[in-house]
Amino acid sequence: MLFVTNAELLNRAMNEGYAVGAFNTNNLEITLSIVEAATSEKSPLILAVSPGAMKYAGVAYLAAIARVAAESVDIPISLHLDHGTTLEEVQSALDHGFSSVMIDGSKLPFEENVAITKKAVEMARARGASIEAELGRLVGTEDNISVSEREASMTDPDEAASFAEKTGIDALAVSIGNAHGWYKGEPQLDFNRLRAIRSKVGIPLVLHGASGIPDKMIREACAIGVDKINIDTEVRDAFRQAVARFVQEHPEEIDPRKILTPAREAMREVVARKIRLFGSAGKA
Ligand code: G3H
Ligand code: 13P
Ligand code: ZN
Repeated sequence: MLFVTNAELLNRAMNEGYAVGAFNTNNLEITLSIVEAATSEKSPLILAVSPGAMKYAGVAYLAAIARVAAESVDIPISLHLDHGTTLEEVQSALDHGFSSVMIDGSKLPFEENVAITKKAVEMARARGASIEAELGRLVGTEDNISVSEREASMTDPDEAASFAEKTGIDALAVSIGNAHGWYKGEPQLDFNRLRAIRSKVGIPLVLHGASGIPDKMIREACAIGVDKINIDTEVRDAFRQAVARFVQEHPEEIDPRKILTPAREAMREVVARKIRLFGSAGKA
């Protein structure tokens, strides 16, 4: 099976009330673990590749690995550019067969974000690909951010409606107190804001920075109407911990296959658990 688009996966998820997981990959082992987990859970899957991943592994290698995966399993897989910040990155992903791209203009003023997003929409449409954009900035959970600064960085529901309408995107990433990486303490998600966005925006919504958000909050976000959930940090952490443990317990072992096998297992477990939590198990 070739790649499906995010629009195809997310419109169904929105209608049926679950979310599709987007998991970041940087190499063969991470991709295999994610695909194996989604296959065993019979779940649709979004493989996310960031510009950093493209640089690390080479976009052609990552796209080829994903293509072999999509041809080998019978679940729908989308290959998605995560946090593209330039139109060159968007074009490169499209040229390598990605079925979905994200243009992240969230650091730009509203009108500039609209302008770059509209250009990316045109590029994606020319290839039949889906497009995600972001409104509102994901700020960190650092202590030096004041409550008013945090609030100001969040997605405004009326602006979100106007942004979706002006750009013609397929999915919108929102900022409701979510942040990339580990949270300091319990995440403070503004669910009333999410409800307001949901009531004004007709397209699928995306929650970035979902690692470390408690299950109960993820269930609530899905119930309100988040349709795509991004996970990276928890998979990275599972990888790191498994490698560290194995190397410590087997100091003489030099075979990368032996070192990486427990890491693959640990990443598989994280991804499978998230898929069940998001409600997409059995939806392939
Ligand atoms: O949100 C970003 C993803 O976690 C990818 O991170 O830019 O380090 O590849 P990266
Ligand atoms: P985490 O690393 O916090 O899981 O965020 C992932 C993400 O948003 C990728 O775009
Ligand atoms: Zn993100």
